[in-house]
Amino acid sequence: MNDYLPVAVSLIRENEFRGFWAARWSPSLFGALLAWSAACLSAEPRWPAAYSRQPIPSVLFVPTPRDVIPDMLELARVRKDDILYDLGCGDGRVLIEAAKRYRCRAVGVDIDPRRVWESRQNVRRTGVSHLVHIERGDLLEFDLRSATVITLYLTPRLNSRLAPRLKQLKPGSRIVSHQFPIPGVVPRKTLRLVSKEDGHRHVLFLYVTPLQGRTVSVPSTGMETSQ
Ligand SMILES: C[S@@+](CC[C@H](N)C(=O)[O-])C[C@H]1O[C@@H](n2cnc3c(N)ncnc32)[C@H](O)[C@@H]1O
Repeated sequence: MNDYLPVAVSLIRENEFRGFWAARWSPSLFGALLAWSAACLSAEPRWPAAYSRQPIPSVLFVPTPRDVIPDMLELARVRKDDILYDLGCGDGRVLIEAAKRYRCRAVGVDIDPRRVWESRQNVRRTGVSHLVHIERGDLLEFDLRSATVITLYLTPRLNSRLAPRLKQLKPGSRIVSHQFPIPGVVPRKTLRLVSKEDGHRHVLFLYVTPLQGRTVSVPSTGMETSQ
């Protein structure tokens, strides 16, 4: 303690005290502090650590390539007066694209809180908050009655479990499923394309309600996690 006394006394001496602050508030340091404060204020909120402890969804997040989304929306003939639901909405990219292109309303649901958080951030960032709404929940329990268009990128098993619930939809509603059909249900149209983004082949299945065929249950394919 006594070792610090002479330093403290010398700092209190007026000249050195002024020098001390002058050194620390140099223009460059002040500028750096200002930039840091601005960065803190503009930064998006951090991912809450508690979310990392949430259960893993039965289908993991693999986003639809961005260049496939316009084909999904065109296949469904989306219009401004549609209400598009993306069941298992991931980062919200399908909803955002639909809202931006067609100015239609869009609703997303995802069971994974990390995806809900991320998609809400993306909706805010892209300026479509007035059109897009995201909820956390299980798509198998979600109320689908308002939907006129549904987009899916799930698994055959999850599609088959969802199929009976699609009876809630109004006649003439369109369902586009990316990559996997709804087992037992006859698609109105099938579109095959290659994405420039990932170089892979993609298949889109269009269904129109009332669905043709009969829904069948599918055993686990191994594409789902154990939950
Ligand atoms: C293959 S990703 C598709 C994401 C987005 N629809 C797209 O096309 O880019 C599947 C998403 O479904 C979500 N999911 C899986 N099971 C679900 C369930 N039972 N209820 C709601 N969301 C689910 C996952 O968290 C994941 O974000």
